[in-house]
Amino acid sequence: MELGLQGKIAIVTGGSKGIGRATALAFVNEGASVLVCARGQQALDETVRAAGHAARERIDAIAADLMQATAVKQVVGRCVARFGRVDILVNNAGSARPGDFLQLTDDAWVDDWTLKFFGYVRMSREVLQQMQHQRSGVIINVIGAGGLNPTGGYMIGGAANAALNHFTKALADAAAKYGVRAVGINPGPVLTERLLQMRGAIPPGSAGQATDEAFRRMTPLGRVGIAEEVADLVLFLASERAAFIHGANISIDGGTTKGLMG
Ligand SMILES: NC(=O)c1ccc[n+]([C@@H]2O[C@H](COP(=O)([O-])OP(=O)(O)OC[C@H]3O[C@@H](n4cnc5c(N)ncnc54)[C@H](OP(=O)(O)O)[C@@H]3O)[C@@H](O)[C@H]2O)c1
Repeated sequence: MELGLQGKIAIVTGGSKGIGRATALAFVNEGASVLVCARGQQALDETVRAAGHAARERIDAIAADLMQATAVKQVVGRCVARFGRVDILVNNAGSARPGDFLQLTDDAWVDDWTLKFFGYVRMSREVLQQMQHQRSGVIINVIGAGGLNPTGGYMIGGAANAALNHFTKALADAAAKYGVRAVGINPGPVLTERLLQMRGAIPPGSAGQATDEAFRRMTPLGRVGIAEEVADLVLFLASERAAFIHGANISIDGGTTKGLMG
């Protein structure tokens, strides 16, 4: 299927690892140009290298901590300065800690919401100001199935994800008049360093070895997802092939979500 992404300009937050990295490299493979951001310079450099020499002019990286409002402006400014516009924003940088409700402090809630919820809100607002002049664009929020499946042990992230499902639909309503689409996706367990660290059993960097029984039990399909599967969905939703998909939150979770929504 021809996605028509050649020449498009995308920002992928958290584009140095996991789902974000797979998405950034997939955009590059489709002929798009990409700005990735994350805190750690080393993983950013590795992602740029992984895009290959031939694509060197179509990928850029900036170290930025999206907990900070100023960093949001720097990231969007860098994309416009380097590539001239922003056609696609993938909000992906975010994580929230699991834990027992009685042990989680105010600071834990505020910190994790500052990145996972307000990071997405701030990036969307900054990018929409660009896109409204262009009269086109797509904003894709990588959210998480935890928002549709409340559990006592993942309350901060689950509540932030529920809020982001709402935000995505409200943003779609607000952005339509500028010709901008907004879509959310809700991944279930996906084999990235984050999943391994949350499980705690396996050290970072050993993603390829994670085939144990616990992972098989995580979804009805009997496996966890891989980052490239999520990237494929993001690219489709970013493309003109998905031009009528707007304000939808789409699950990619191996059947984990049993509710009628998502
Ligand atoms: N993997 C799953 O099972 C799963 C399931 C549901 C939802 N999700 C969601 O999918 C998204 C990606 O998850 P992942 O598993 O791919 O995570 P990951 O492998 O841990 O990668 C996270 C990326 O975000 C960057 N990042 C973290 N904190 C940041 C900050 N303060 N400012 C800027 N960048 C930051 C990381 O780089 P630095 O650390 O260098 O900053 C990295 O590039 C997240 O929003 C997550 O909640 C994941």
